[in-house]
Amino acid sequence: MNQLSDGIERKVLELVAPSPDDWRELEGIIQELIELVKQEIKKRKLQVSIELVGSTAKDTYLKNNLDIDLFLLFPTAISKEDIARNALSIGRLLLKNTEECYAEHPYIRGYFKDRKAEIVPCYKIENASQKLSAVDRTPLHTKYVKKHLSKSQRPEVRLLKQFLKGIGCYGAEAEVEGFSGYLCEILIIKYESFENLVQSAPGWKHGKKLALSDDTPQSFDTPLTFIDPVDSDRNVASALSKEKFKLFVKACKEYLKYPRITFFFPNEIQPWSLDKIKSEIQKQKCLYVGVVFSKPNIIVENLYPQIRKAARSIREACERYGFTIFDAKFHVDESSNLIFIIVKTKNELISKTLVHMGPPVKLEKNVRGFILKWEGNPRVIKKPYEQGGRFYVEIKREFRNIKDFLRDQVKNLSMGKHLDEIIKERYDIVEIDDLLKENLLVFWTDYLDGKMPWD
Ligand code: CTP
Ligand code: MG
Repeated sequence: MNQLSDGIERKVLELVAPSPDDWRELEGIIQELIELVKQEIKKRKLQVSIELVGSTAKDTYLKNNLDIDLFLLFPTAISKEDIARNALSIGRLLLKNTEECYAEHPYIRGYFKDRKAEIVPCYKIENASQKLSAVDRTPLHTKYVKKHLSKSQRPEVRLLKQFLKGIGCYGAEAEVEGFSGYLCEILIIKYESFENLVQSAPGWKHGKKLALSDDTPQSFDTPLTFIDPVDSDRNVASALSKEKFKLFVKACKEYLKYPRITFFFPNEIQPWSLDKIKSEIQKQKCLYVGVVFSKPNIIVENLYPQIRKAARSIREACERYGFTIFDAKFHVDESSNLIFIIVKTKNELISKTLVHMGPPVKLEKNVRGFILKWEGNPRVIKKPYEQGGRFYVEIKREFRNIKDFLRDQVKNLSMGKHLDEIIKERYDIVEIDDLLKENLLVFWTDYLDGKMPWD
């Protein structure tokens, strides 16, 4: 690119790439853990091979953000219950502060010598078509990357990971909806260097398809498709949201124009004062309304999809009823354990009446039903009438004010299992004064100033 970006990238690597000493130390810790796991396997007379996978195996991890991903590969003849039971009991014995997960693929995570570590059971397979669950593919990923990513490309992966972290796009988990570590690696294999990728991405359009083989990629309805080189049925970028895809493309464009270290290490948001936030909101002449409810005690992988669904359902219900919605954002407040869904709308009452669409004239049976349904209904202002080949009826609205509407209707929306349970119990509809709280200052600053993370 140019000297400026070279200097920045060198600086970033100094901060995120491990030194030979760091590397040796980690290597020692990993070997120690593997040794202990081996002994446990022997004691239990298990037929298992141990494999280090993930970014520590591929030497593409970020120095201050590493986890030791240790996989136990069992023969497919052993039951899922048995592989889970054994792996979890070994993990409980060797790791500290453990958390167990029994979901689709059971695993255990905790700490070994102050390093984050994960012990995951899976089945040993030769190719992805034999997989019994998604994790069985992971050792194949590790093998693929070790073979195809050259040593000189490892720093390129680290640059890309830190760049994505800086702009808030790193991680495939539901909280981020961004790029996984493996996606970063195959992007670098594809584009050869960080620089090349950053120069190409500004030309990406929604629906961009990538692959490492010559096969024509399958179609997935996602902003980016990258066919997994070890499993052509899978899109490695499936978790990437539209927003994060756009943000990445924009960040690459901006970085090319004016490279800065803040792309990799953004300045923290300095919250505005309450007065400044109030005056910015007043200028907009809009109305903000909040739907507030308790945060269920569930893992983030389950929480975020439900909150996004809730924000979407609320927005759509309001729009269907006739309200103009400019935005529906959310904020999870850890300190009060509350979730805020904040809707930005026009500051006015909507019309007194509403025109409700009925069936086309030619569906006589439906028309009769429609007329019968509204006959004598006290809400009817204008009886069923025909217009352009369809029937309509004009009725009085139940709600003209969005707060009344939400207070009455939110409980009827579907937002996902755990949120539905909470909403059934209680939710509050609040106005701007209750949204201008200390806990929400960072949210408002971020929302109102519209600055990019790197600005
Ligand atoms: N994996 C995957 N898809 C995901 C998450 C994980 O295929 N959405 C697999 C990948 O093979 C990955 C491995 O699980 O290499 C370990 O996952 P993780 O620790 O999240 O990623 P790393 O590649 O180790 O990257 P890092 O830890 O540096 O973020
Ligand atoms: Mg990892």
